[in-house]
Amino acid sequence: MEVIHSPDDARRYVWSLRSQGRTVGLVPTMGALHEGHLSLVKAAGTCDSTVATIFVNPTQFRPDEDLDKYPRSLDEDLEQLKNAGVKAVFVPDQERMYPEGFSSYVEPPEVAKPLEGICRPGHFRGVTTVVLKLLQAIPASHAYFGKKDYQQWRVIEAMVRDLNVGTKIIGCPTLRESDGLALSSRNRYLDPEQRRRALLLSKALSKTEAEFRAGETQIEELQQCMRRTLLGLDNAAAATVGSEHGSTPIQGMDKIDYAAIVAADTLTTLSSLDRPAVAVIAGYIGKTRLIDNRELNIS
Ligand code: PAJ
Repeated sequence: MEVIHSPDDARRYVWSLRSQGRTVGLVPTMGALHEGHLSLVKAAGTCDSTVATIFVNPTQFRPDEDLDKYPRSLDEDLEQLKNAGVKAVFVPDQERMYPEGFSSYVEPPEVAKPLEGICRPGHFRGVTTVVLKLLQAIPASHAYFGKKDYQQWRVIEAMVRDLNVGTKIIGCPTLRESDGLALSSRNRYLDPEQRRRALLLSKALSKTEAEFRAGETQIEELQQCMRRTLLGLDNAAAATVGSEHGSTPIQGMDKIDYAAIVAADTLTTLSSLDRPAVAVIAGYIGKTRLIDNRELNIS
């Protein structure tokens, strides 16, 4: 597996493959890899070659966020990517991505405005900027993004469409622990009690989906159902994530940033469930911010 540090070397490497007519699948990451990342690598396996990137992008973190604390495990990450069959990894350093005098940013599309756009102003500007830079360095035929970060996937799709980037964006399903918790690099910050409470996100989504499947079409009702579960007020759901001994009732999430049902393409508020929708949740367990979502497809 090649480890490439400079954008020019990366571009040369990818062009040599593409000029032979090969497809190249790109998997951008910030490292601290887990099975969720590796599921993207697996999806990219339908391409002739897979290239991954590891770069903790400072421009997508706000000053009060966890940039310094963000987990880093480069040697293990490289080993995992090699074992997963990745042909090359682009690992740029800060100076190469943001050289002295850097001042060009990508203005994110409309779909970046709601939800995370409100809670984390400036975040998507950092994401669109770094992803466009990665796509310039690695002109892949396909690039793979997790639906775990649903809005990020939609933002990248829109940016690539709007700016005529020739890479096809593929959204991949969220990989979960066996109990339903979506895999995330930030799960490692959770202590055992918080880890149990973190299950409330996937429980809330499953409960809401079940109500939807059972015929509930009132968005407000479904959103209330999600919030009740997240706050630990739904006894049945709370019991399944309760203390090990089952006696202590659990607390809910410590802060809910949003728990909403929105249009699956624009992520804007819906007045009725007459088109594909997605239930989205973000909030805190202790100091750890978690997100999750579930598509609600109209059959
Ligand atoms: P990172 O958080 O490392 O995630 C890299 C990719 O893995 C993203 O596309 C994300 O959605 C996907 N992913 C994370 N957890 C997943 C899970 N449980 N199942 C499936 N896919 C999962 O997202 C970023 O990095 C950055 O914003 C990046 C796009 C690399 C730009 O800096």
